[in-house]
Amino acid sequence: MNIKAPKGTKDIVPSEINDWYNIENAAKEVFTKADFKEIRTPIFEDTALFERGVGDTTDIVNKEMYTFIKSDRSLTLRPENTAGVVRAYLEHNMFRESAPVKLWYKGPMFRYERPQAGRQRQFHQVGVEMFGIQDASADAECIMLAVDFLNKLGLNDLTVEINSLGCNVCRKEYKERLKDAIAPFLDGLCDDCKSRYEKNPLRILDCKNEECNKLFDKYNLKESVSGIKLCDECSSHYEKLKKYLNELNIKYEENTFLVRGLDYYTKTVFEIKSNSLGSQNAVCGGGRYDGLVETLGGPHTPAVGFAMGMERLKALLPSIEADKITFFVVSDNQLEAVKLTSKLRHKGYSCEYDYNSRKFAKQIEKASKTAKYAVIIGEDEIKNNYYTVKNLSDSTQEKMSFDELCML
Ligand code: HAM
Repeated sequence: MNIKAPKGTKDIVPSEINDWYNIENAAKEVFTKADFKEIRTPIFEDTALFERGVGDTTDIVNKEMYTFIKSDRSLTLRPENTAGVVRAYLEHNMFRESAPVKLWYKGPMFRYERPQAGRQRQFHQVGVEMFGIQDASADAECIMLAVDFLNKLGLNDLTVEINSLGCNVCRKEYKERLKDAIAPFLDGLCDDCKSRYEKNPLRILDCKNEECNKLFDKYNLKESVSGIKLCDECSSHYEKLKKYLNELNIKYEENTFLVRGLDYYTKTVFEIKSNSLGSQNAVCGGGRYDGLVETLGGPHTPAVGFAMGMERLKALLPSIEADKITFFVVSDNQLEAVKLTSKLRHKGYSCEYDYNSRKFAKQIEKASKTAKYAVIIGEDEIKNNYYTVKNLSDSTQEKMSFDELCML
C-alpha cells in the first residue's frame, strides 16, 4: 500500500514552518493594530450556506465544492470563509454590537480545482471582514490594510486593480447590454456560459475557456459593451473610494472587467496581483457585499473584506531557516544528560540530548546541526561539578557552572 497526500494538497513540513509563522505573525500584527479581532469558524458548514451565500451560478458552488452527507445532512468543506464569518456574525448577534465589527481569520479552504502552480485543492487564506460601515472609507481601509500587510512582508511589486459592480439597479441595465452583445455568438460558447447567459451573464466575462475567449475577441465583446454605467449613488461611492486611495497614496488601476468569481459582491471589487507570479497571480481578492448578511437571514448590513492565498504569498517570499535550539547535552552518562536537559528546559531554554548515548563525535555532529551550544558532561565534569560549553558557531570552549550556563 503506497498512500500519498491527496492530489492538490501539500504537507507543511518542519523545514517550512517558519515561512508560515512569518506570514501568520505579520497578519496578526497588522490586523490587530487596525483593531480587527480574530475569529475561527468550522472548516465545514451546511451546504446551503455556500449555495445561498457564494451563489449558485459560480464555479465554486457548481463544480468545486467538497460536499458530503452525514445523518441526512448535506455538509461542505468551506471553499472560502466570507459566508462562514457572516453566519457566525449572525449566530452570535454581532449585528447588535456597535459598528464597525472587524474580524480577521486564517485557515484552510477547499476547492476541487485542477491543481497547478499556485492553485491547490486544499489551500490557506488569511482574510478580513468588516461589518456595518456604508461609507467608502471602509473599502479604502480594507485595501490599505491589504497593501500594508503585503508591504510588511516585504512584497512591493504588486498591482492593485479596482472596479465597481454597482448595485442591482445598475447591473440590470448592464446585464441586458451584455446579453444583446453576446446573443450573436451564444451558440459557440461553452455550456457554462450558455447557462450563465440567463442566470448571471456577468459571470461570462470571467470564463476561462479558450474557445469562448477567442469568440469574445472576434466579436470585440469587451470594447462593445464597455463597463457598467453606475447609478448616482454607486458612482459617488466609487469616486469617493478613489479619492481616499489617492489621498492615502495607494496606487491602483481601474479594470472595468474585473467581475470576481463570487456572486455576493456589490459596488467595490478589487484584486491585488503580483507581477512576479505566473498565471495564478492574484494574491488578494475582495470587495463589498452589502446584501449578503440579509441574504443569510440577518438585518441589512453593509460589509466589505478580502482574502489572500497564503501559498501564493509563501511562493513570493524567501524561505526562512529552521530555528536552532539553544543547548544540546553531549554525554555518555544518560542520567546526567536527562537531568541537565530537564533543568535547562525548566529554566526556559530549548534543550535536547542524545537518546542513544552514541560516541561523543557523533553527538557533537548532531549538536552542530541542531543547536547553538553543546554542553559536554564527561567524567571530569561530573567529578568537579562543571560543564564544558562549546559555542557551535565559532568552536570556542569554556568551563561553566549551571548559573553561568543560564546567562548565555
Ligand atoms: P477569492 O478570490 O476566491 O476570494 O480568493 C482569495 C484568494 O485566495 C485568491 O486571490 C488567491 O490568492 C487564493 N486562492 C483562491 N483559490 C485558490 C486555490 N485553489 N489555491 C491557492 N490559492 C487560492 C474569496 O475567497 C473571498 N472570500 C474574498 C473576500 C473576503 N471577499 C470579501 N471578503
